[in-house]
Parts: sequence; C-alpha cells; structure tokens
Amino acid sequence: MKPRVLLTHQLPGERVALLEQRCELLTWPGPGLLPAVQLAQLAAGCEGILCLLTDRIDRALVDALPQLAFVSSMSVGVDHVDVEALNARGIPLGHTPGVLVETTADTAFALLLAAARRVVEADAFVRAGKWTEDNRWSPEFFTGIDVGGATLGIVGLGAIGQAVARRAAGFGMRVLGWNRTPREVPGVTPVSLDTLLGESDFLSLHVALCEDTRDLLDAARIAQMKPGAVLVNTARGGIVNEAALAAALVEGRLGAAGIDVFEREPVAVDNPLLRAPNVVVAPHIGSATRLTRARMADIAVDNALAALDGRPIPHCANP
Ligand code: DGY
Repeated sequence: MKPRVLLTHQLPGERVALLEQRCELLTWPGPGLLPAVQLAQLAAGCEGILCLLTDRIDRALVDALPQLAFVSSMSVGVDHVDVEALNARGIPLGHTPGVLVETTADTAFALLLAAARRVVEADAFVRAGKWTEDNRWSPEFFTGIDVGGATLGIVGLGAIGQAVARRAAGFGMRVLGWNRTPREVPGVTPVSLDTLLGESDFLSLHVALCEDTRDLLDAARIAQMKPGAVLVNTARGGIVNEAALAAALVEGRLGAAGIDVFEREPVAVDNPLLRAPNVVVAPHIGSATRLTRARMADIAVDNALAALDGRPIPHCANP
C-alpha cells in the first residue's frame, strides 16, 4: 500500500507529478487555504504533510498524528511549525532555502526605494487628480530621502541579507551589518546592534523568527534608531513591535517604513501601521515571482520524496 501524504494546496512547479506517482496524495483542492480544522481531519493517517507557511503545524496536531513521519514546508521560514514537537519524535522538517534569496532581496529593495521616495503616495496623488496647476513641481514637492550615499544597516547576514548588501553596493550605500553569530561578509562592516541602530539611515531585517528574535525591534530598540531612519521588513512581523513602530512614525521620529510582513496575517484593517504616515505595505509577497514559487514547490516536493524513500531530506530545517 502506498503511503498517504497530505498536500495542503495545489502546487506550481514540475515535480509534484512525481509525488503523485510515489504516494497516495491527498490534495486540498481549495478554493483558498486549507482551514485548520480540515487540516487536522485530512492529515489523520498521513505519513507526511506538504504544507505552506499559512498552515499551523502545532504540537496538538503533531501529537494527534502517530503515523506522521515527515513535514515538508514550501517556505524557508518554519515559525508556523512547532519544531520542538517534531524533534521530540525525530520527525524531519523540510524547507526551501536558497531559491528565494534574490527575489526576496528585490522585494526588500523595492520597499526601501518606494518608502524613501514616496512612490505609492505619489501614485495615489496623481490618480486622485490632485496633480494640478496649483499643486505641482516646487522645491519641496514630494521630497523624500536619498538612498545613494546613505547608510544601510542589515540585521541578519544570511543569504538574503547578503543579497540586499550586494544591491546596496550598486546604489553607492555604506553597508553595516549585524548577525547574532558574527559573520564576515564582503562589503559589509560588522558592528554591534546598538551601533547599527544608531548609524543606519535605512534598516533592513533578515533574521528568522524564533524565540531569540521575537520583538527584537522592541520599543527601546526602535527608540535607538537614527532620527528619520527608514525601516524595511521582509522577514517576519513578529520581529518588530508594530505599535512602537507606528508610534515612532506618527511622532515623526522615524522617516518611513516598507513592510511586507505582519505579526498577524492577513493584517487587520485597524493595525496602527496602516494609519501611520509614510508606510508602504505589501501582503507578504517577498518571494512572489512565478519562477521562485515554482522552484520552492519543486524543493518542497524533493524533500518529501526523499523522506518517502528513507533518504536524508536535502533541505532539512531540524537536522
Ligand atoms: C518564506 O518562505 O518563509 C517566505 O516568507 C515566503 O515568502
């Protein structure tokens, strides 16, 4: 009898067909994302789950699935999975690092530029018919913040942080970097977190969300940021205290923010960041290109295939 695997969403990419041959694949047909209650029901009796970052694989679910032998997530981040619960049972967790590095770095830079130069606000202004003879080019009209020559602070010097640093070099930025375990990166001056916060005109976050990084940018650290600085977050919302960030923007202590990720997603319409000035937002689209999503899906399938064959998972998040 073929092992049963739950696939919580239809996947792009070419390799999902191989998975269909290798196991009894239970695919949630949608529409939309698989609700948690149905995830628990459908996963019963499954040896594996191939999930998205929107699926919560918590301890209660893991404990309720005695046959569970692997989880493969189509994401690099695994903060939606109770890794401790998997580790306690020796269950490997696959994830998809590498392929989304450049795409996510592009998103970070797009938000950085859009926030610095008020691109979204300017677009809305033109479309609303506000660009009139009385309200047009003048010395102070739509002035923003220069990127060229500014200092960029990168929090987290993994692959995505390094890719952002390469982009910053092309814009003539001075690049500072902080990593929990110090790391030498070409073109990046390693500094303490205090120095990074105090000296950066732009701050871009590239750490995974875990207990050590939750609320890393709390109210005290936000207060340490250089006056007028711009914060870019394409990592995870839980790394930043959203209320403190919104307050700093409203009070004009920070200049702007580009935010792709929120503590709770989808973001609530009354989230204070949506009312703060100079904030460019996006709905967690860091890795959202067709090619990257297909590559992520293919890696997630390869991780699942390896687990089904009893081979080590090529991209294992809990080795
Ligand atoms: C991930 O894979 O963790 C990213 O957040 C997806 O965009």
